[in-house]
Amino acid sequence: MTAQSLFSAKTRAEMDRNIAKYPPEQKQSAVMACLIAAQSEHGWVSPEIIAEVAQILEMPTIAVEEVATFYNMYETKPIGKFKLVICTNLPCQLTHGEEAADYLKKKLGINFNETTPCGTFTLKEGECMGACGDSPVMLVNNHRMCSFMSQEKIDTLLDELSAQAKRGSV
Ligand code: FES
Repeated sequence: MTAQSLFSAKTRAEMDRNIAKYPPEQKQSAVMACLIAAQSEHGWVSPEIIAEVAQILEMPTIAVEEVATFYNMYETKPIGKFKLVICTNLPCQLTHGEEAADYLKKKLGINFNETTPCGTFTLKEGECMGACGDSPVMLVNNHRMCSFMSQEKIDTLLDELSAQAKRGSV
């Protein structure tokens, strides 16, 4: 890690752990894992972060940028503390997914791809999460899957996450 690195020792160790899974001449195969580690630390992947990941993996910056912009789990612009992705594909839409999305928009006062003024929530539309029978389904920060999201359950989730944001334990 250089003195100017954007990554903490913990993040860099996580990257190295993933890089070590591949032969040295194929360390570029760790690009997705390295971007995830970078995003976990910073909340998004800025052009500077992408450039440093490229340097670490000895890849052209444009190649890392292509990965970061292709997959929707990477954020190339700053987002809120919590990214809420609700599945709006047809099977979910037909089983209350659309109502849940409308409720979220109303409750948060934002549309898709927007962030609340307090910086706590960003709302996004997602593709099928493989849980169509559990609709409405949501994903929080790419990791936590929430099923059968009735208005009541959405209220509870938003209260819980808002409290976490206030405590700074995100
Ligand atoms: Fe929404 Fe499959 S369509 S989880």
